[in-house]
Amino acid sequence: MADAEIKILDNGPFLVSGSISLTDGKGEKCDTTKQPLALCRCGASGNKPFCDGYYHGKVNFQAAERAK
Ligand code: FES
Repeated sequence: MADAEIKILDNGPFLVSGSISLTDGKGEKCDTTKQPLALCRCGASGNKPFCDGYYHGKVNFQAAERAK
């Protein structure tokens, strides 16, 4: 059983829960205590790497992948 789960939201962020380590491009650790984490995948968030809950709708981000 995995320690972490990543859920892909249609037209929105990745929801991440469980025991993970998240670091930025400089190697600085991000706070992962508030879960689930919503990681932006539209690229428009004002709070990257996290989804701000707003801009993916504002930019009409479209993605609804399905498991194969
Ligand atoms: S996925 Fe929500 S702002 Fe990018």
